[in-house]
Amino acid sequence: MRVSSAWWLFSLAASHVVVGVSQHAFTLEDDKSRFTLENFIELPRPGVGVANAAGDLAFIPVTEYSFRQRSNAKSIVLTTLDATGPESLSLELNGTVFWLDNRTLAHAVVEGDVLELFALKINQIDTLSVKSPQLIAKFPTATASKFQYSNGHLVFADLVYPDGNISAVRDHDAAWANRGTTAMVFNDAPVRLWDAWKGPKSYSIFCAELVQSQNGTWILSEQFDNLLQGTGHVSNNFHLVEDHIVYTTEPQKQFDRTSQASPQLFPSAHKKTDCQIYAIDLASPGHSKLLSDGRHDGASALLNNQLTKVAWTENPNSATHEGNAICTIVVYDLKKDSRVAVGADWIPRPGSLKFSLDGETLYFTAEHHGKVKVFALPVPDTSSPAPDLVTLTHSGAVAAIQPLPNGHLLITKSSYTSPNDVFVISGLDTLERDLKSHPTPEFRGKIDQITYLSQAALKDKSLDGGEEFWFTGALGRRVQGWLFKPRGWSAGESAVHHWPVAMVIHGGPQNSFSDEWSTRWNPNMLSQEGYFSIWMNPTGSTGFGADFAAGIVGDWGGKPFVDMKAGFDFVLSKYPEIDPERAVSLGASYGGYSINWIQGHPEFGFNFKALVCHDGIFDTAALSLTTDIPNLFNHDFDGVAWSDKGAEGHRKNNPAGFVSKWSTPMLIIHGSRDFRIPESEGLAPFQALQQLGVPSRLVIFPDENHWVLGHENSLEWHKQVFGWLNEWVGQ
Ligand SMILES: *[C@@H]1O[C@H](CO)[C@@H](O)[C@H](O)[C@H]1NC(C)=O
Ligand SMILES: *[C@@H]1O[C@H](CO)[C@@H](O)[C@H](O)[C@H]1NC(C)=O
Ligand SMILES: *[C@@H]1O[C@H](CO)[C@@H](O)[C@H](O)[C@H]1NC(C)=O
Ligand SMILES: *[C@@H]1O[C@H](CO)[C@@H](O)[C@H](O)[C@H]1NC(C)=O
Repeated sequence: MRVSSAWWLFSLAASHVVVGVSQHAFTLEDDKSRFTLENFIELPRPGVGVANAAGDLAFIPVTEYSFRQRSNAKSIVLTTLDATGPESLSLELNGTVFWLDNRTLAHAVVEGDVLELFALKINQIDTLSVKSPQLIAKFPTATASKFQYSNGHLVFADLVYPDGNISAVRDHDAAWANRGTTAMVFNDAPVRLWDAWKGPKSYSIFCAELVQSQNGTWILSEQFDNLLQGTGHVSNNFHLVEDHIVYTTEPQKQFDRTSQASPQLFPSAHKKTDCQIYAIDLASPGHSKLLSDGRHDGASALLNNQLTKVAWTENPNSATHEGNAICTIVVYDLKKDSRVAVGADWIPRPGSLKFSLDGETLYFTAEHHGKVKVFALPVPDTSSPAPDLVTLTHSGAVAAIQPLPNGHLLITKSSYTSPNDVFVISGLDTLERDLKSHPTPEFRGKIDQITYLSQAALKDKSLDGGEEFWFTGALGRRVQGWLFKPRGWSAGESAVHHWPVAMVIHGGPQNSFSDEWSTRWNPNMLSQEGYFSIWMNPTGSTGFGADFAAGIVGDWGGKPFVDMKAGFDFVLSKYPEIDPERAVSLGASYGGYSINWIQGHPEFGFNFKALVCHDGIFDTAALSLTTDIPNLFNHDFDGVAWSDKGAEGHRKNNPAGFVSKWSTPMLIIHGSRDFRIPESEGLAPFQALQQLGVPSRLVIFPDENHWVLGHENSLEWHKQVFGWLNEWVGQ
């Protein structure tokens, strides 16, 4: 979750009139440079760039909300990847887009209760254009997803009943809807995930032949092979190269004998399985080869183009801990049936992991010191805890990478001042050679920005890129944070105690605030509202080494708060223009836990005048049994809540045990569809505050999950948050 702004324009109509915090005189010029809440929410949201195999064209999916039309338009931007004269074209395509060949896009779009697949031929004679689409085929369902195409094989995931028959789904759906009861019966936990109950369907992976005939028409075979038929595996996470896939299974948790009322629907429940990695030849559905060894944490696996090696990331400590902070990269040799593992020392959860086209180099993204960088590493042939890495990027947050021919790498990157754009890194052919032979390889290529999707909209907005600061925290460790200045602030300002300040606490807790654009908690929206804001990466945060992340285990309420108080004091002493009497704090998830913890620990001395707790944790012991990811709690609290060590971990770190000390005005916001931290974790502290007579407000979003995704809800969320803060520390 991240936050937003000129909302005081709206607040005039609200019952408690809230006045804008900015003190400088308002001029027309200000108006143009103001980045309003509407500007923020309506700003187009680019996804990640995907290039064709030739590496000369890429598309980027974009969504764009309009408050006036109350609609969210979907499109793709098609762009050439030539940095000297990029040309682009926007196409209104509201479905899923993927490449069929170097000049053909496929578009899978829901039409009624099925999915239609179209081919779009791209012309590039004088300018880029697209011919009218050819309808290839209709799918038997509307839920096919994750399409990948290679050499005549179309592979995708879909939700099916235990019979695994994609053609029977619609009949089963009708029978399920008419089963005459709404009861759900479970024999296995977890029973729900994120925001959905486990249903009678689960994911499987399908393959169909898709070829081009002599006259150019694309033809999809009518046979859909269920590649996982008979394996009992559940998966929608796979990588296709030519005629093989590797895939990662979901652990056990199959919805078993769901309805006693219509047992005939579920003749053979799936077997329980673990989270594992398998390879399969498309020609032999059901005949999977197991590659992982039980320690796998569910991350994607990928094949090299030579079909000789498979790579994935794995948590060396635990197979199922969802908040895993550290990872090793595993490379499995399919010829020798052997594996090597590298990098447990510091690599936190590589996001995107890819083989170079020749299969000899690995590229991956990982959090590092408040950024998400791209790293290169020769494909290892021996295990090592700390391999030599070469860093390719140093700023922003890279969301995706794709190796291209000729030593190029396509990356999608955002920052605190811009949503995603695509860039091309070149010169990697030299690096790849040096990685093999040179004792100290270095990246000496260049990075070219290809798209400028938000440049025009943000040009006059003078957004703040954030000031990085480091300070000494618990155990004498160096801790990093980001500071954002309010709109209207200028360096060398002599005014003392002039500006309010907000300390924002991230969730996870194994997570970080990175130089990344966010549509939820966006630091610039607090700046626009006239607040200094402090975003720290205390103990438990990722990107600062395995020890630092692991330091929060058994100590949720300890070291992170020593760190945050030290960082807070550091910023206030550096900027005397900040008013310590107008300090507030906000957080979601573990950040919301922190808000509840600060409520019960006035001795920290933050002296916050108001708090905002979004989807926060109130009772850790209860939540460890109601959340969809109990393993995170069992790990971080040193055991299940009824074990001696676990009980002690909860006693020491549970906000529910310190309510008698609560006294700070607090806004609580919760989504009813939040199954990670269920709604009762928001209702309980609100009841407590009301009974204690502490000013408090509860905002429920009945249709939101752990995040506030609806655009109108996002606007309201920001108005509620800023309204509450301004009521206590505005002027
Ligand atoms: C795409 O272009 C690359 C490079 O020009 C070529 O090697 C490849 O065969 C092309 N792929 C298809 C499917 O045409
Ligand atoms: C998506 O686009 C198709 C035409 O390509 C149109 O028929 C359909 O109504 C659109 N769906 C939505 C949800 O906009
Ligand atoms: C799959 O379901 C369809 C539609 O109900 C049916 O015609 C077909 O025989 C089924 N296939 C198998 C292998 O059972
Ligand atoms: C192209 O070929 C396919 C099968 O070979 C055929 O069904 C289709 O009618 C042809 N289309 C045209 C426009 O000739």
